[in-house]
Amino acid sequence: MQAGCADSGSPPKAILTGPLGGLGAVFLDELCRAGWQVLAVSRSAAELPVRAGVTFVCADLSTAEGVASLLSAQADWFQSADLLVNNAGSGVLGSADDQGMEPMQRQLQLMLQTPIHLSLAVLPGMRHRGRGLILNITSLAGATGIPFMAGYTTAKAGLTGFTKALQLELLDSGVHVLEWCPGDIRSEFNQRLHKAGAPAAVWLKLERHMALAPHADCLRQQFRRLLTLRRGTPVWHPGKWSQVMAAFVASRWMPRCLMVRCVRRYFGLS
Ligand SMILES: NC(=O)c1ccc[n+]([C@@H]2O[C@H](COP(=O)([O-])OP(=O)(O)OC[C@H]3O[C@@H](n4cnc5c(N)ncnc54)[C@H](OP(=O)(O)O)[C@@H]3O)[C@@H](O)[C@H]2O)c1
Repeated sequence: MQAGCADSGSPPKAILTGPLGGLGAVFLDELCRAGWQVLAVSRSAAELPVRAGVTFVCADLSTAEGVASLLSAQADWFQSADLLVNNAGSGVLGSADDQGMEPMQRQLQLMLQTPIHLSLAVLPGMRHRGRGLILNITSLAGATGIPFMAGYTTAKAGLTGFTKALQLELLDSGVHVLEWCPGDIRSEFNQRLHKAGAPAAVWLKLERHMALAPHADCLRQQFRRLLTLRRGTPVWHPGKWSQVMAAFVASRWMPRCLMVRCVRRYFGLS
């Protein structure tokens, strides 16, 4: 696969969304270390550090307007990128009916429509050059669901579906589309979570799972390998092995009625 092969000896180019969070900061570090040029997209212009080889741009990826202006302002990057990492994400914690449509739509935009839109923008250039890598960061939430996070769960499950379809379409094209479907990884995710009303027990469980989760640094090795692989493994599951296996077994082999009970209990309900 070797995502990092650019023409004419110039450094390969990556577009990374969400470069300031737990996972994104690790990806950014590793790309810089490997000599990539990076377009790093975040909302927080004020916090953007100066880094050699990194162009920081500000965009709110939870709105269609934010995505459209990013695509038009950075068209050259999207035509010439060797790697796209769809990483930016954040959730809302609250019952589906209390949340209403607007927060749902923002989550679907940020973690499903935006990754699709950015993928469609890089694909023509990658196809033309016969190589490239799109890395979609999904979540085990898409497999089992998280109670009181319906928008997040739906967006992640949708992105898994999009990734699978592209993998079927692009086999042997030289362009690879991979899914990273992590379990809990310690990051600022819970701090950024918008709390719209959920049982305290669920929030306490989310905090506990996060506190016990491996630090985002554990992804370095895997990400480094991914940048140099010659063949792509279609889905990777970083995180705690026991959690990944439990979610895998529950979502594939458990009758749904049993899975619902187990997942509810895991999140402190009943
Ligand atoms: N941590 C976990 O346990 C876990 C597990 C499974 C999947 N994931 C997924 O991994 C990805 C990274 O999560 P993380 O844990 O590193 O979370 P994080 O620490 O909260 O970082 C999230 C990143 O997304 C960016 N972002 C959020 N909303 C945005 C918006 N509207 N427009 C542009 N950028 C936005 C944030 O930057 P600004 O706020 O500065 O814009 C930040 O850089 C997410 O897609 C998440 O769903 C995480």
